[in-house]
Amino acid sequence: MAIETVVLKRTFNAHKDEYEEAALRALNSGWYILGNEMQEFEEQFASYLGVKHCVAVNSGTDALILALRALDIHEGDEVIVPANTYIASVIGVTENGATPVFVDADKFMEIDADGIEEKITNRTKAILPVHLFGQTSRMDRIKALADKYHLKLIEDCAQCHGSKYKGQYAGTFGDIGCFSFYPTKPLGALGDAGAIVTNDNEVAERLRLLRNYGSKIKYHNEINGINSRMDEVQASVLKIGLKYLDEGNEIRKKQARMYMEGIKNPKVIIPPVNENADHVYHLFPVLVKERDKFQKYLLENEIKTQVHYPIPPYMAECYKDWRYVWSDFPNAERYAKQEVSLPIYVGLPDAELQYVIDVVNRY
Ligand SMILES: Cc1ncc(COP(=O)(O)O)c(C=O)c1O
Repeated sequence: MAIETVVLKRTFNAHKDEYEEAALRALNSGWYILGNEMQEFEEQFASYLGVKHCVAVNSGTDALILALRALDIHEGDEVIVPANTYIASVIGVTENGATPVFVDADKFMEIDADGIEEKITNRTKAILPVHLFGQTSRMDRIKALADKYHLKLIEDCAQCHGSKYKGQYAGTFGDIGCFSFYPTKPLGALGDAGAIVTNDNEVAERLRLLRNYGSKIKYHNEINGINSRMDEVQASVLKIGLKYLDEGNEIRKKQARMYMEGIKNPKVIIPPVNENADHVYHLFPVLVKERDKFQKYLLENEIKTQVHYPIPPYMAECYKDWRYVWSDFPNAERYAKQEVSLPIYVGLPDAELQYVIDVVNRY
C-alpha cells in the first residue's frame, strides 16, 4: 500500500463539482482582479471569524509583509517571533528591515509564552506568534504581555484556519491576523492566496492601499504599495472551501485521534496538545530520535513523510550573519532534528491511516 503525505486531488475531489462550477463562473465572468468574488470571500471570511475586515492578498507571506508595513514596523524595530516556525513568518519581519528576536518553543512546539517577557526591549514593537501545525499558541498570556508593554500583536495563522483558543478564533486576538491559503492548508486555494484580518478600520484601509500599488483611485498613489491581490478564480474556490472548513477540520481531528489512540511505540513520541487550544491538525507531528532511520523504514513500507522543518529560521543560510548556533534554542533544535509529519488530510482513507499506525507500531 503506497501512502503519500498528502494527495491534494483527493481533497479537491471531496467537493469537485462545486469547485469546478465556482472556478468556471469566475473564468466566464470576464472580470479577474479586484472583483465580486474577492469581495464576497472577504465578507464571508470576516463574518466566519467575527472580525470587521478581511483584506485578500496574493499569499500568506505577502499578508505578513503587508501587516507589519501597515503597522509601521521598520528598520530599528524588533519583533518577537518563535524559533520554531516556517521561515515565511520571519520574512515578514526582515522584508520590512526590522529585526526578529527569537523565543524558543514550548512542549506543545509553539512559541514559549513564558519566554517572551525577558526578550522585550525598548525597541520591541510587536509579538508575532505562529499557531504552528493547526494548534493555537497560548494567546491569553501573549495578549496580556502585548497589552502590558503596548506592543502590536500579529498572529501568523497560516496553518490554523478555524482553530480556537479558549473558544476564540485564532487571528482575532491581536491587531492583525495573517492567513495563507496555500493549497495544502486547512483552507486551501488552487494556487497561491492569502488574507489579512483586522478590527481596525484605519489599518484595513491602509492594507487595501498597500496591496494595490498604494492607490485607491487609479494612478493616484497615496502610499508606497505593491501589487498583491487575490485573483477572482482563487476567491471563487475559497468561498467553497470556507463552506467546508469546519467539516474538514473535524475530519482531520478524527484522523489525529486515530493516531493518538493507535500509536503505541515508545520510540515515537506524540507531543502533548494544549487543552485550551482547539487543534485543527494541519499536520500531525511526531518526534523520533533517529529520524533518518525511521523515515527510511517507513519508505521501505511505502509510506512517505515530511519534516516541518529541518532547518529552523535562526539557522537559515540567508540569515547566517546573525551567527546563531543550533543550541541557542534547545527545544527548536530538538524539534528540527526529530520531527516527522505523518499523513493527515481530507480524503485520506481510514484504511491507509490504520496501515501507517500498524507500520509505526512495528518500528
Ligand atoms: C507558518 C507559516 N507562515 C507563513 C506561510 C507563508 O504562506 P504562503 O506560502 O502562502 O506565502 C506559511 C506557508 O507555508 C506558513 O506555514
